[in-house]
Amino acid sequence: WLAFCLNTLGSTIIFVTTILAIQNRDTMSPAVVGLIITYSLSVTDALKWFVRTNSELENKSISIERIDEYCHLKPEAPWDLCNQKLTNDWPQNGIIRFQDYSTRYRENLDLVLKEINLSIEASEKVGVIGRTGAGKSSITLALFRVVEPVSGTIFIDDIDITKIGLHNLREKLTIIPQDPVLFTGNLRINLDPNNEHSDDEIWKSLEKSYLKTFVSNLSEGLEYNIEEGGANLSTSEIAFPFYSAVQGRLPSLLLSNAFTKENAKLIPC
Ligand SMILES: Nc1ncnc2c1ncn2[C@@H]1O[C@H](COP(=O)(O)OP(=O)(O)OP(=O)(O)O)[C@@H](O)[C@H]1O
Ligand SMILES: [Mg+2]
Repeated sequence: WLAFCLNTLGSTIIFVTTILAIQNRDTMSPAVVGLIITYSLSVTDALKWFVRTNSELENKSISIERIDEYCHLKPEAPWDLCNQKLTNDWPQNGIIRFQDYSTRYRENLDLVLKEINLSIEASEKVGVIGRTGAGKSSITLALFRVVEPVSGTIFIDDIDITKIGLHNLREKLTIIPQDPVLFTGNLRINLDPNNEHSDDEIWKSLEKSYLKTFVSNLSEGLEYNIEEGGANLSTSEIAFPFYSAVQGRLPSLLLSNAFTKENAKLIPC
C-alpha cells in the first residue's frame, strides 16, 4: 500500500511538472525543460529511499533506547563475596529451608510467593504441583536468586543464600529449565561450556543418560553444529544436552522445571 501511495505521489509530481513545463515552453529553454523533467522522473525513487531510510533510523533508534534502559538497570548482587565461609563441597546435603519467604518480580507488582515456609530434607525428591501461574517456576528462580526476596530467607544447608555471592550460589545448583536454550556452536560447547571435561567424560555422561546412540548417529558426533536456539533439533532433543550435563555433574541439588515421564528416566535417582 505504501509503495502504491509513493508511486501515485511520484506520478502526480511528474505529471504536474510536465504540464507546467509545457505551459511555460515560450519562456523556458528546451535544455531547462529537459533537465526539470529528468529530475522529476527520479522523484519516486527519492521518495522510496526517504521512507526506507526513515523507517531504518526508527528501527535502529530502538537499540539506543534499549542500551539506555540497560544502563539504568539496577545491577545484580556481587558475584563473589570474599567474607563468606563456604567450603568447596557446599551444599553437602542439599537441605532447603524457606522461612517466611515472599518475593515479587518488580516493585509495585503483587507478591508471587507469599510467606512460604517449607523444608526439604537431604535426598528428598519433591514435586511442586500447581495450576499455570501458581508460582512453580518462581520458586526455582528464587533459589537461583534471579528474583531477590522481599522478606524472609532461603537456607541451603543452613547457609542464608542472600549472604553468599551469586556466582558461588548458582554454580552449585543445577536446573533442567522449562524452556531449554541451546547456544549456537557445536554440541560439545553446549554440554561443557567451560571446557572443564575430557571427551571421555562427556561420552560417559551421554551413556548414563541413554544419549550415546543419539549423539553417535549425528553426522559429526560431539562436533555437531547446533543452529541458533537448537533450530536443527526437535523440541524433545533440545533438552537432551541438559540431561547429559546433569549426569556429568551429579549435583546435590537438582531442580527440574519440566518434569515429564520421559525425562524422569534420564535424571539420576
Ligand atoms: N518476568 C515476570 N515478570 C512479572 N511477572 C511474572 C514474570 N514471570 C512470571 N510472572 C508472574 O508470576 C506468577 C507466577 O508465574 P510462574 O511462572 O512462577 O508460574 P508457574 O507455576 O511456573 O506456571 P507454568 O505452569 O505456566 O509454568 C504468574 O502470575 C506470572 O504472571
Ligand atoms: Mg513454570
